[in-house]
Order: sequence, then structure tokens, then C-alpha cells
Amino acid sequence: MPEIILITSFKGGVGKSTAAANIASKLAKAGKKTLLCDLDFDLGTLDLITGCEDRMLFDICDAVYGRRDVDDCAVKFPSNPNLSLLGAPFRMTDTVEPDEFAKRLKDISAGYDYVILDTPGADSVTLAAARLCADLAIVVSTHNPASIRGAEKTAEKLRETGSECRLLINCFDASSVSGDKRAGMLSMIDATKTPLLGVIPYDRTLMFAQEKGVLAEGDAFISSKAFDNTVQRLLCKESGRRPVPILYGISGVKRKKVLTK
Ligand SMILES: Nc1ncnc2c1ncn2[C@@H]1O[C@H](COP(=O)(O)OP(=O)(O)OP(=O)(O)O)[C@@H](O)[C@H]1O
Ligand SMILES: [Mg+2]
Repeated sequence: MPEIILITSFKGGVGKSTAAANIASKLAKAGKKTLLCDLDFDLGTLDLITGCEDRMLFDICDAVYGRRDVDDCAVKFPSNPNLSLLGAPFRMTDTVEPDEFAKRLKDISAGYDYVILDTPGADSVTLAAARLCADLAIVVSTHNPASIRGAEKTAEKLRETGSECRLLINCFDASSVSGDKRAGMLSMIDATKTPLLGVIPYDRTLMFAQEKGVLAEGDAFISSKAFDNTVQRLLCKESGRRPVPILYGISGVKRKKVLTK
């Protein structure tokens, strides 16, 4: 059975879909057969972020409710053959019952190594379903106060229902930490009471590339190495290797200044 990872925060716009798409893509590039699933049924965007909206004929509900074979519904990526996407329905016609949805989603995921579930920016019925089938929850937060509070509440709720959580700090701007304008990593770990999985720097190039359906790949993106590190830390569980340092290979960050705040 695959390792199922949900990506969440009750706060909108913190980078959940960005993280889901890039983590899934990097896992696939690392040789893992990966299924990326859009569970944001009100405003799914993973087809746009991965640049395949014109090729999405069927959606995740067609696959989950057995109207089509999962292989017909999953969009493939010729440049990244281990990656498949099940997009969100454009208009929702099914009623999601979390237990049933979770069970069916698990059934159709057999054969994949990893399943990455992107969820909406609120507590929702699809998040409830995702919680029931996920092995790990990644809570995404930027380092502004509202986002940190969102992550704190999300992690608290997830822990109450028995989910194992990790924190992913997104849009990290080291200069705003050393300038005492924003929270650093340690205070975010303290506030959310959640172990840190990774830190993704603010990446202007990614923001614009994403609007054209391009993911963070290569040296042009300062976030690319950070997504690589994050995926390496996820893979440690199965490889038994030591986790790579959080800021490994990321230039422009003065370790002491951002770590001690
Ligand atoms: N590391 C980053 N650097 C710069 N911009 C980023 C980064 N991560 C995300 N963004 C930008 O932030 C915006 C919101 O990202 P995204 O859609 O992934 O958030 P979300 O949490 O999924 O939002 P929603 O709650 O609406 O689903 C997008 O414009 C995206 O390009
Ligand atoms: Mg989103």
C-alpha cells in the first residue's frame, strides 16, 4: 500500500497546493510512483499549477466512485512519467461521505508508492476523508501571525484525531527574521507544537512560473532545492538515511540568525 500524505492548513493561501504539486513532482523524480490528488472540490487548482488543465478529461470523483478506471482519470506527465494527477471536479455532483470516500480512495491508490492529497483552506468534508486514510499530515504555514495561528489550530485538531503532523514553513524570508519583523523557525515550531519537516523560501520566480503551469525544477528556482530537501526528509523513513539538514544547499540564509529566533 502507498504512503498517503495530506497537505493542509485551515488558513487559505499559504501554499498548500504549491507544496502538494512540488512535493509530488519531486517524489516522482526520485523514482516513486506518485499520485497527486486534488481534494479542494470548491476551488481545485492542481491542474493549473501542473499545467495540464487541457488534458483533464475526468476527475478524482469519477475514479473514486468507479465511473471510470483510475488510469483513465489520472493525467500523466511525459516529462515526469512517475507522476499522475487526479484533478478536482469542475462541478461537484457527488455527496462525499468521509468514511466511504477514504476507503475508496485507498482502494484506487493501490499500486502507487506515494499519494499526496491537497486539501482546501478550511476544515472540510474532504479533509475529514483525507485524515481517515493519511499516514502523515503536513501542516503548511508562512511566517505571518495569522498563518501561524491557522497552523496552530490545524495541528491541534489533527492531533486530537490521532494524525501524525509535520510542519512545512513556506514563503520563508530569512531577512525578515534577522530584522525581527517575522517569526523564526523555532518560534513557529513552539507555537504549532509540530516537528519541522522543511522550509521553503519565498520564491518570486516560482510564483510567476506557477501561473504558467511550471513547477520548481532546477537552479532558476530558489525553492527547488528546498523541495528536494523536504522530499529527502520524507524518504528517510523508508531509506533509513539520516535526514538532510533543513537549510542544506540553500544560499543566502544565515543559519544562526534564523534558527535561534
Ligand atoms: N514559496 C513560495 N514563494 C513565492 N510564492 C509562493 C510560494 N508558495 C506559494 N506561493 C504563491 O502563493 C499563492 C498561494 O499559493 P497556493 O495556491 O499554493 O496556496 P493554497 O494554500 O493552496 O491556497 P488555497 O487555500 O486557496 O487553496 C500562489 O500565488 C503561489 O504562487
Ligand atoms: Mg490550494
